Amino acid sequence: MFTVKKGLDVRQDIHTLVVGIYGDDKKPTGIASEIDSALNGHISELFKSDDLSAKLKKVTRIHTLGALGVKTIYFVGLGLRKDLNYRKVREAFGKVAKELKQHKQEEIAIAMDSFYSEAVEFKQTVHALSEAFMLATYQFEDYKEKKNERKYELKRIELYSEEDEATIDYALKSGEAYAAGTNVARDLVNTPGNLLTPTDLAAQAVSIAQKHGFEYDVLEESDMKELGMGALLGVSQGSDQDAKLIVVKYKAKEKWEDVLTFVGKGLTFDAGGYSLKPALNMHEMKSDMGGSAAVLGAMESVGRLKPDVNVMFVIPSSENLINGSAMKPGDVLTSMSGKTIEITNTDAEGRLILADAITYAKEQGASYLVDLATLTGGVVVAFGDIASGVMSNDEAFFQKFEQCAEEAGEYVWRLPMFGPYKKILRISNVADFVNSAGKNAHPVQGGVFLSEFVEDTPWLHLDIAGTAYSNKASDLGPKGATGVMTRSIVKLVEKFAAK
Ligand code: BES
Ligand code: MN
Ligand code: ZN
Repeated sequence: MFTVKKGLDVRQDIHTLVVGIYGDDKKPTGIASEIDSALNGHISELFKSDDLSAKLKKVTRIHTLGALGVKTIYFVGLGLRKDLNYRKVREAFGKVAKELKQHKQEEIAIAMDSFYSEAVEFKQTVHALSEAFMLATYQFEDYKEKKNERKYELKRIELYSEEDEATIDYALKSGEAYAAGTNVARDLVNTPGNLLTPTDLAAQAVSIAQKHGFEYDVLEESDMKELGMGALLGVSQGSDQDAKLIVVKYKAKEKWEDVLTFVGKGLTFDAGGYSLKPALNMHEMKSDMGGSAAVLGAMESVGRLKPDVNVMFVIPSSENLINGSAMKPGDVLTSMSGKTIEITNTDAEGRLILADAITYAKEQGASYLVDLATLTGGVVVAFGDIASGVMSNDEAFFQKFEQCAEEAGEYVWRLPMFGPYKKILRISNVADFVNSAGKNAHPVQGGVFLSEFVEDTPWLHLDIAGTAYSNKASDLGPKGATGVMTRSIVKLVEKFAAK
């Protein structure tokens, strides 16, 4: 998609040129000033009036009407240099990519150096460009009679810069790796439940693993029985589809140690079971595999980036439905860890399948655990579709991750695990815990439940119930699946590799 060039000249024959402008500049600078002189000072005039605004993310399209080689210019407002950050540059690129898509511009040139400011490193600016362009122009291949067939594609982007070409190439590839992973996650979440069963999810995982030469294993229900995974099997027993436990290992080091492990909730459809969900919006529960999608998305990115750190990807996958043998409220399940669970609500199923996956991941050598799950409606009420909830048993690990999320441009907020919360689920007369102790503090209950299976391993729990799916478009994508947290966890992998 990208070719890197030097020596941008506005007299060149260029159909569409994209230029960044800053609010601090009272008159055009750099390439904009060259355009200005070629246009007899007209850009300066526009700068003075409000017709060409440098306000952050404001895009203005100007036709040069034959006055120079460049025919159309998209000026992208970047605001004040001192206020700029990585997140804002990325969003500004996303905004202009969306407008280019709307105008079906398939071949463009970018005056890359006009986007650079001291606030954001140059290589990050380049990463932001390729990442944002791929994310913002993402389209799900739908099932309509008039198929959208991914009609629009930015075919050619000529990137003009005087900076080092190898640095640019590397940053472009890195941005593409992050976006490609995120778009893998989006495709999976957007796929309806009848077309993405646990078996299909496992097939997708295997195909990504094979593409990158990763080791993989898919456990069947018979294996789960042998291992005593009563919690995962308990959820799956209400469905005709077989549960799967997908395990992929990226062995970067000679020794299988210091293994960063991601565990993703793969509920391909959650009807709630006998604690049935209300009909309104139940269809959105096809997105209840958002955690596993982020994990598979990250697998795609890791496969492209090949960072120097061992990574394991674990996905428990099942449906949560109703049939004659489905689990019932009051049932007691014995998890692989040996801990028993009284089912007080069959709709709190995510934590059940994750519990066994976490125990299995530890057995397979997980040294650091990150679980991702569309776990609770409570986190949707608290944070909407803006921030993901995080819980952790390890300060340093949490801080490292918080930094990664910030760099990836995603919002996270921590929920507490104070001592008294830890007792909240220990109220069963017959089992070690209940799976739900009612509505109070219910996002925290979800995390606390999982922590019982994590035990001492450094751990992060990411509740993405509100953020995995959105009914609004953003600067970086259309409405529907967001692919949230893919980029933050890929950043985490890269941070681990760098140490
Ligand atoms: N998959 C849901 C959580 C969810 C809610 C995801 C809204 C996305 C949007 C989860 O399995 C669930 O049903 N959670 C229950 C837990 C409760 C029974 C303790 C919930 O949040 O109501
Ligand atoms: Mn549920
Ligand atoms: Zn669920």
